[in-house]
Amino acid sequence: MSDAADRSRIADLGLAPGGRRAIEWARRHSPVVDTYLRERLADGALDGRRVALVVHLEAKTALLATVLADAGAEVVVAGSNPLSTKDEVAAALVDRGIEVHSTRASGYAVWEEDLLAVADSRPELVIDDGAELTTRMARHRPEAYAGLVGVTEQTTTGVARLRALADAGRLPFPAMAANDAACKHLFDNRYGTGQSTVQAIMGLTNMLVAGMTVAVVGYGWVGRGLATYLRALGATPVVVEIDPVKALEAFMDGHSVATAVEALPTADLVITATGGLRAIGARHLDLLADGVILANAGHHDLEVDVEALAGAAVEVVEVREGIERYELPDGRGVHVLAGGALVNIAGGLGHPIEIMDLSFAVQGVGCHELARGGYEPGVHVISPALDREIAAAKLAAHGLSVDELSADQRDVPHGL
Ligand SMILES: NC(=O)c1ccc[n+]([C@@H]2O[C@H](COP(=O)([O-])OP(=O)(O)OC[C@H]3O[C@@H](n4cnc5c(N)ncnc54)[C@H](O)[C@@H]3O)[C@@H](O)[C@H]2O)c1
Repeated sequence: MSDAADRSRIADLGLAPGGRRAIEWARRHSPVVDTYLRERLADGALDGRRVALVVHLEAKTALLATVLADAGAEVVVAGSNPLSTKDEVAAALVDRGIEVHSTRASGYAVWEEDLLAVADSRPELVIDDGAELTTRMARHRPEAYAGLVGVTEQTTTGVARLRALADAGRLPFPAMAANDAACKHLFDNRYGTGQSTVQAIMGLTNMLVAGMTVAVVGYGWVGRGLATYLRALGATPVVVEIDPVKALEAFMDGHSVATAVEALPTADLVITATGGLRAIGARHLDLLADGVILANAGHHDLEVDVEALAGAAVEVVEVREGIERYELPDGRGVHVLAGGALVNIAGGLGHPIEIMDLSFAVQGVGCHELARGGYEPGVHVISPALDREIAAAKLAAHGLSVDELSADQRDVPHGL
């Protein structure tokens, strides 16, 4: 066995050929990561640096791991959610010498141990999702946490967690809010999650979206994308918000807006996208229509309070792969997709490759910036110039360019 295999915890190294094919397919459709990012990382800044990569462990993430390793980094990988790990991809990474700690559906206790094993490898840099590794290092591995050079974070939820650490005076290193880069949230949260969530729901249920009434809980970037894709397929989105500005935006975008109490009784499908806890919780259960389908597109598995639902149910039956039906005492049945985990990732294919090409370019550039140094402790965003560079690389991959302002198009204030 190779060193990487000795140090790793994966399901089966024999699955590697399938994983290699999946990574190669992702590479073919990731021109920004495979060319722009590769070239940017070639300056040696990552040479010999230990980088922990804790993102949903599937082919696109694996591609990023290989690009970092090709740039000289010692990469250690774990999945950011045990339900989304692809065992064949984990095997392919180990087979090419990258240490991995993850198996699909390991359960949360084993997953936590995997994250701590990554922490114990003493990474200098972390590429995180939901700040899952960073917050655990802060809590359980304070010495390794104090030794971090920097963290770059993928999600809205994770950035909020890093900001909370910074506010509490507990972020002794610089962190990059990858989510806050335009090339991330404008495309990943909106188009990527919009398409892949609806696609996963269609795949899991084999049902027709046209004609459905869908309660979209949360109208941030994710909710916006969801509502757009749902409407394009002939569904009627009803947006539930707590922020009047977002609710007004949903209204002006042409969607219905309602409270949960108003929206839930007529919803055929409910999708949560809040980044918060219990968007659908115990107090909503009486409002749900018989046969309703609940799906979560936000970060927390707790956006749909499956525990409360289980507590109220007289029986839980798996009625189709990835769909559990909770029989309530009054005779109503409530369906939960993918166990309440991120439906597009745990119950689907994850984000489209072209979207992750952008998101991982942002994460990779953020990691490279941190490796080069010069950032103060606190939460940062890559510069607008880097954001534009990534967008330009993506456009170039499509054979597209933008114009530049000519001298006579520039506004010169009077009198100057
Ligand atoms: N599934 C995926 O692949 C994926 C991709 C990107 C982001 N995310 C996650 O999706 C979540 C939303 O991301 P975003 O970028 O849209 O965030 P955002 O902060 O832009 O939007 C969240 C919205 O939810 C609203 N909200 C909060 N609690 C609510 C509640 N109880 N009821 C109704 N509305 C509520 C907020 O007012 C806000 O408008 C985050 O957890 C993020 O990490 C998931």
